[in-house]
Amino acid sequence: MINIGVIDSGVGGLTVLFDVIKEIPNCNYFYIGDSKNCPYGEKDKTEIMNLSYNLVNYLVKEKNIDILIIACNSISSTSIEFLQSKFTNLKIIGTTKPTVDYIKNYLNSKKIGIIATKATIDSNAYQNGLKEYETYAKACPNFVKIVESGKITEEKEKIVFEDLKDILNHNIDTLILGCTHYPLLIPTIRKVYKNTIVTSSEAIIKSLSNLIDISKKHGDLKIYTTGNEKQFEDLILSMFKRKEKVEHIDIS
Ligand code: DGL
Repeated sequence: MINIGVIDSGVGGLTVLFDVIKEIPNCNYFYIGDSKNCPYGEKDKTEIMNLSYNLVNYLVKEKNIDILIIACNSISSTSIEFLQSKFTNLKIIGTTKPTVDYIKNYLNSKKIGIIATKATIDSNAYQNGLKEYETYAKACPNFVKIVESGKITEEKEKIVFEDLKDILNHNIDTLILGCTHYPLLIPTIRKVYKNTIVTSSEAIIKSLSNLIDISKKHGDLKIYTTGNEKQFEDLILSMFKRKEKVEHIDIS
């Protein structure tokens, strides 16, 4: 069976991974949430490149992965070329380019809002990829912290509504959740926005299905964190309503 590594700064990438496994179960998946260094979206490009290099290096050396899914827009938008240049034999699927292609090929969008971390917005990856559309981009640094806190209270929902206000004032028809943590806020976002939402999952599933012969057979799933394994398990339980076993790993 094909071994697939999946990386993110925390639990966000699991929004992608659980969707991917539903459609493409017949691979072994190795997930790392780099909780020790979360959030990535506030860091500069060099730091994100170095941290993500360490994660991929671990997955290549220890787990013998054939394919890497970068289930993190902050890594994808800043470091995908660097990672590909370092791991030339690895097939790497990121988030930004597949999402841009997905919008162009499958949606009839005109006015697009892009919300993401500071690193992703500053990289201009989405804005440049979607030049022919009317786009409005905004960094929402509070959102990752809200998700990683494990509980979306009314207070926290108010922060989300406030941060979304100026984007939604533009009457957009499509909202890109350009951070893989944000799908966990969809029930909150849906209270103030009813049009199309695009996450990274759709595009990644399309890219991966071009590389794999899909069958119903189930592979293994292993979830690792560089932080506290119990906290990570609790976070998965509260945010995804799933009981998963998590192992702690040290990656320098
Ligand atoms: N989930 C990640 C992303 O898609 C990273 C969020 C963060 O650590 O700031 O950008």
